[in-house]
Amino acid sequence: MRLGAGLVLFSYVTTHLANHALGLVSLAAMQEGQVWFLRLWRNPLGTTALYGALLTHALLALWYLYERRTLRMPAWQATQVALGLCIPPLLLSHIIGTRIAFTLFGTDSSYTRVLLVQWYLSPEVGLRQSVTLVLVWIHGCMGLHFWLRFHPWYQRALPVLFSIALLTPALALLGFVEGGREVARLAARPGWVEETLRLTRAPGPPERAALARVLRTSLDFYGGALGAVLIARAGRALASRRRTIRITYPSGRVVQVSPGFTVLETSRSAGIPHASVCGGRGRCSTCRIRIARGLEGLPAAGADEARVLRRVGAPPNVRLACQLRPRGDLTVVPLLPAQPAPLTVSHDDQAPGREQEVAVLFADLRGFTRLAEHKLPYDVVFFLNRYFEVVGGAIERAGGIANQFTGDGVMALFGVDAGAEVGARQALAAARALVGDLAALSRELAHELPGPLRMGIGIHVGHAVVGRMGYGPGIYLTAVGDTVHVASRLEQLTKEYDCELVITEEVAHRAGVDTRDAPRHELTVRNRRGALVVYTVARAAMLAGPGGDATALPAYPAAGPPPPTAGPAAPKIRS
Ligand code: FES
Repeated sequence: MRLGAGLVLFSYVTTHLANHALGLVSLAAMQEGQVWFLRLWRNPLGTTALYGALLTHALLALWYLYERRTLRMPAWQATQVALGLCIPPLLLSHIIGTRIAFTLFGTDSSYTRVLLVQWYLSPEVGLRQSVTLVLVWIHGCMGLHFWLRFHPWYQRALPVLFSIALLTPALALLGFVEGGREVARLAARPGWVEETLRLTRAPGPPERAALARVLRTSLDFYGGALGAVLIARAGRALASRRRTIRITYPSGRVVQVSPGFTVLETSRSAGIPHASVCGGRGRCSTCRIRIARGLEGLPAAGADEARVLRRVGAPPNVRLACQLRPRGDLTVVPLLPAQPAPLTVSHDDQAPGREQEVAVLFADLRGFTRLAEHKLPYDVVFFLNRYFEVVGGAIERAGGIANQFTGDGVMALFGVDAGAEVGARQALAAARALVGDLAALSRELAHELPGPLRMGIGIHVGHAVVGRMGYGPGIYLTAVGDTVHVASRLEQLTKEYDCELVITEEVAHRAGVDTRDAPRHELTVRNRRGALVVYTVARAAMLAGPGGDATALPAYPAAGPPPPTAGPAAPKIRS
């Protein structure tokens, strides 16, 4: 409801500012634009939507203030809330001077009259209105940003959206100034001001007094509602003081709070860092905790919490800290690290970590330990550097990011910016290129190697938290989450299935490849309802379709491994 109401209000503000910007053309253009603006928002439907949204948004803001057990929150969230609370008193006099004056006394709210008042007769009103305009716009843009920032397309559109966010109020204010200057020139003509006020039915002293009373009453009402919320909060805190619950953290720290606090609020009230990318709105899952003790007495997850937990495949003892209001003592383990301070030096917005869909590839060299045993350490370093060069190049050419080289293994991410579908296709292309380039390396080093190099590759696509992690100069982009664990385990399964590549059904589906002929297996995966369907590819080189991209997964070649029914028992993935 808050989002819906916010979107209606944001649409109103955007059209209003666009109308102001017409002042850069002329006062007449502003007036012409206003005809359309009023047609849109002063019909019964527009009026109901606008004032319904205004009331809903304000009431939900007060409820939000009441519901929170602690007012400690991240700076961005505090700014958004503070702006939201400032806006009603600042806006009320404008609404009463235009819409209410029109409704009660038929006062014309054309740009000519409003600019005459706000630019020429009472410039301080114009200044206050300009400040309000900027605050309203910032509040709305913050709401949109924190709503949309998890969508991959949003990151790509951000430069354009940011330009629009800057230009819209700038052009509106410039339009206001230009319109005001035109009105000031007109006002220099003898008798124009008086005539304009008369023609626009500007309120006289009795009407102004009546409007002032409406304004006072509205402000009193708003102040009273805000005060009532604060008093209710204080009363609740006093009433619940006698009963406390204890929440124990992994460090051994115990925090006592009144029942009704969420676990995230408890962490914040005690100054314990706790990841919460969406600000506690139950959208990101980064605040999730494992319940180490006290699971029995917990209230069941609500619909929103259950949906998010299902999406990340959380087991029954994992809950969202921002949604869980424990009624008894609890021991919790936050599952994702809170944002460490050094990451703030990074300038891209992946630093805080963001949950998104991404394709993850794990590749590992077969028999490397045996190969390294018979070589001098310098030779191993030379070989590994050459190998990593080949592997890193193949991944980069396919559009991926090779982000972790451990021993002879590599982890790579695909679709971080381009989305999961593109990522899945790129990962398959990378698998083919990896095997091809490895064969070329085998030929190049044939006299050094006991036999051709072989590789096992696992690919999965799904939700993961992608962000820059590490310390000091060792900070790099990586991903964490079940998707990563599953991809890693699939790479290990290539040994059991005696194949070069194992991918999940999701990868095949996202990449749009035909799986009809491919060997299919079902695995049991912890944290996941139902079986995980995977496909094996004996030779990754067989993935190429006519255009280069994989279009179908190949069947086992005649000399390939046995069919799945005779193959190894479905292994359990422990992720
Ligand atoms: S903070 Fe985002 S779901 Fe809890």
